[in-house]
Amino acid sequence: MSYTTRFANLTDKENLLELYKRVSKIIGGIARTESEITETYIINNLKKSINNGICLVIDQPNGDKIIAEIHCYKLPPSVFDHILSELTIVVDPEYQNQGLGTLLFNSLLKHIENNRTDILRVELIARESNVKAITFYEKLGFKIEGRFERRIDNKTENFEADIPMAWFNKNYTPQNITAMTADSLSAESTRIC
Ligand SMILES: CC(C)(COP(=O)(O)OP(=O)(O)OC[C@H]1O[C@@H](n2cnc3c(N)ncnc32)[C@H](O)[C@@H]1OP(=O)(O)O)[C@@H](O)C(=O)NCCC(=O)NCCS
Repeated sequence: MSYTTRFANLTDKENLLELYKRVSKIIGGIARTESEITETYIINNLKKSINNGICLVIDQPNGDKIIAEIHCYKLPPSVFDHILSELTIVVDPEYQNQGLGTLLFNSLLKHIENNRTDILRVELIARESNVKAITFYEKLGFKIEGRFERRIDNKTENFEADIPMAWFNKNYTPQNITAMTADSLSAESTRIC
């Protein structure tokens, strides 16, 4: 089966709500429980990612569902302008372990390398017991940066650690240098004229 990624748009909101509800039924993955997956949560994520980040989805071949999604976005204040945060990825339980998560991440990171020289850092947090996700992120080039002790109340056992991870864009270009270069170029051309 061949799958392709595309950028999400606001008309995807119902399909994304259904996808997140299916994924949240499996305990130990995303932080939110099924009752916390609301239309407001989905729309807010979509708007922030479309306006100030990236949201990619994979459609079900020969169907009308969305079967996988990844999103991340910039957080205020402006000192964080070089960072895409709040990264979440979900793959429909029926389609997991078939390479869709890898396809989404590779598309996202390639897009950032090729088109987003303003982004230096992509960051995410995974609960320590989500070994599958952490192993997966490490293979993609994310590095563990520490641990937030007892951050997750998993409601069944004790509190568990949340693991912050980051990936760096080798093509990042400091934006003030870009602006300065553009300014000096225009000063230069002014002088020549
Ligand atoms: C985590 C998730 C996004 C991965 O997507 P996926 O499509 O299943 O992943 P892929 O098929 O592309 O496999 C990616 C990697 O997962 C890892 N993996 C798969 N099964 C694993 C397992 N049982 N244990 C440990 N790692 C495992 C491997 O590193 C694999 O790489 P490989 O192909 O080199 O072996 C998906 O399982 C998911 O949506 N889980 C529920 C939601 C969730 O946990 N989101 C992340 C919150 S931080």
